[in-house]
Amino acid sequence: MEEKEKNIPDELFLDQTLRPGAWEEYIGQESIKQNLKILLQAAEERNHPAEHILFYGPPGLGKTTLAHLIAKETGRQIKITSGPAIEKVGDLASILTNLSPGDIIFIDEIHRLNKMVEEVLYPAMESGVLDIIIGKGPSARTIQLDLPPFTLVAATTRIALLSAPLRSRFSGGVFRLEFYNEEEIMKIIGRSAKILGINIDKGGIDEIAKRARFTPRTANYFLKRCRDYAQVHKKDLDKKTVFMALSLLGIDELGLSESDRNVLKVIIEKFGGGPVGLNTIAAATSEEESTIEEVVEPYLIQRGLLERTPRGRVATQKAYDHLSFDHPDGEMHQNKLIH
Ligand code: ADE
Repeated sequence: MEEKEKNIPDELFLDQTLRPGAWEEYIGQESIKQNLKILLQAAEERNHPAEHILFYGPPGLGKTTLAHLIAKETGRQIKITSGPAIEKVGDLASILTNLSPGDIIFIDEIHRLNKMVEEVLYPAMESGVLDIIIGKGPSARTIQLDLPPFTLVAATTRIALLSAPLRSRFSGGVFRLEFYNEEEIMKIIGRSAKILGINIDKGGIDEIAKRARFTPRTANYFLKRCRDYAQVHKKDLDKKTVFMALSLLGIDELGLSESDRNVLKVIIEKFGGGPVGLNTIAAATSEEESTIEEVVEPYLIQRGLLERTPRGRVATQKAYDHLSFDHPDGEMHQNKLIH
């Protein structure tokens, strides 16, 4: 291993290794890729940095990966930060004034930017200037600094928390990342296994893909944990080993974890299947509201296990079936084994 790689924790090193380095290596999100390629090529031909871009969607679908890919494909430098890391206006000023012309700045979790910082970001995005107020009261004055031209790429799991003025300044496009289909997830697992030198058969890949929540990050995480299990138990990495390894992690055949099942169970057992408010579910499950809203719910909704209504969350018939509860309005259901 090279000197510079020695101190990098295993997981971080692997994540870097798995990150696609070219458009052709990035699997899925086809419509976003097509649109980005046009946006970037057109900007390149006009000899201008691309306009600002916003990605949103559930965690693990590749928002950060796309930002890195944009930088790589356009040969630009990328500076990485996040909403909560930019605490003061001065932090943002320092980042923006230190950019080189054409740089990309990536702000993750942009919904967590504070209002004062956001106000300074508007003119920076729109007109490439930084308005800084010096002093207080009647003697306060504004100075304006010209910034090097840059492209802001931002990401959020909570688009609804972004103010309309901020959203409207992403003139290059606002892109929603979709869950991947099973075939795409299988390709991603196959690619990762090859890069990491993991010997896994088609049945094993299939079994991980079924439970990976249509999410590449989860698929890669499961692949590594299944590799560990196979290694320790001296087994081939096939369908059966994957089944054992993921069952041990508490992941069931629909890819639900213990906390996903707990959310559904609470809605069904304590609140008659709903509708019930998010804050009530959070209190009853001891989970953070944000975790439920950003991580748990999108997948349960995608799987058709949960519905969001104006009066609250409702467990569907499918949720009752999956957890082997009898639906109050439905026919009796046979008990099924839950992992
Ligand atoms: N690893 C994580 N996300 C990926 C994707 N969309 N394509 C290829 N490899 C990935």
